Amino acid sequence: MAIKISRTFLLRKLHQITGIVPLGIYFLVHMYTNSTVMSGEKVFEEHVTDIHHLPYLLFVEIFGIFLPLLFHSVYGILISAEARNNVFNYGYGRNWFYFFQRATGVFLFFFLTFHILNLRFGMIPGLNLTPVAGNADQAFDIVAREFAIPWVMIFYILGVAATAWHLAYGIFLFAVDWGILIGEKAQKYALYASVGLAIFLSAVGINAAVAFVRPCGLFPKVLCEQAEKSSVVEPKKF
Ligand code: HEM
Repeated sequence: MAIKISRTFLLRKLHQITGIVPLGIYFLVHMYTNSTVMSGEKVFEEHVTDIHHLPYLLFVEIFGIFLPLLFHSVYGILISAEARNNVFNYGYGRNWFYFFQRATGVFLFFFLTFHILNLRFGMIPGLNLTPVAGNADQAFDIVAREFAIPWVMIFYILGVAATAWHLAYGIFLFAVDWGILIGEKAQKYALYASVGLAIFLSAVGINAAVAFVRPCGLFPKVLCEQAEKSSVVEPKKF
């Protein structure tokens, strides 16, 4: 007996996978790179330079980031437009989570368009006009100048928190939809875990953002001074 798989079914699965595999992984790597600023601007710029030296970088960007992002955002907006939100009828937690998943998705569409034009391409009039791509040696100054503007910093903090929530709850939805989380208890604990993951990723990303305008971000400076010293390699004495 032939099994019929509808196009909508395949597109939905592709939407879930693109959110987790290229984009979710990219977000984790990106927050790691940003967090290296806690060890000083030189260390951060070395990490950005390493990324710029990756072989086939343009292909990685196009096929690993931009195209999955375009598909995930456009299809996500179509799903959100179709979705019927019950949140104002029934205030159940899951309905709110469902609502936030879609609300953060729509917000991220605008945030990421702004962010990529702002830092990757330097194309937002009135803000930074130097792309980080090709100018890794200025990466710290470019970001720090932007983040010194209060509304830009607030927008980025909201962007990081929205991404963290969207990814963490997205992993939960993926696990339920793919039949990995079946029992009621398993779903309940996984939901707590995804809230914990969202809080953890938000904290790491927000701390990295603050570290561009205040050494060591929200942590006491002494923690980062040690990190900076230990990153200096002493020449060997023979
Ligand atoms: C603390 C907040 C953030 C900072 C400081 C930051 C910094 C940067 C920088 C400097 C670039 C340019 C990289 C380059 O050209 O080499 C970039 C690109 C990018 N960022 Fe962020 N970012 C932040 C938050 C986010 C968030 C929340 C996302 C969501 C996933 C994100 C997604 C991207 C994407 C997709 C690119 C383009 C990647 C590429 O062209 O290779 N960023 N970011």
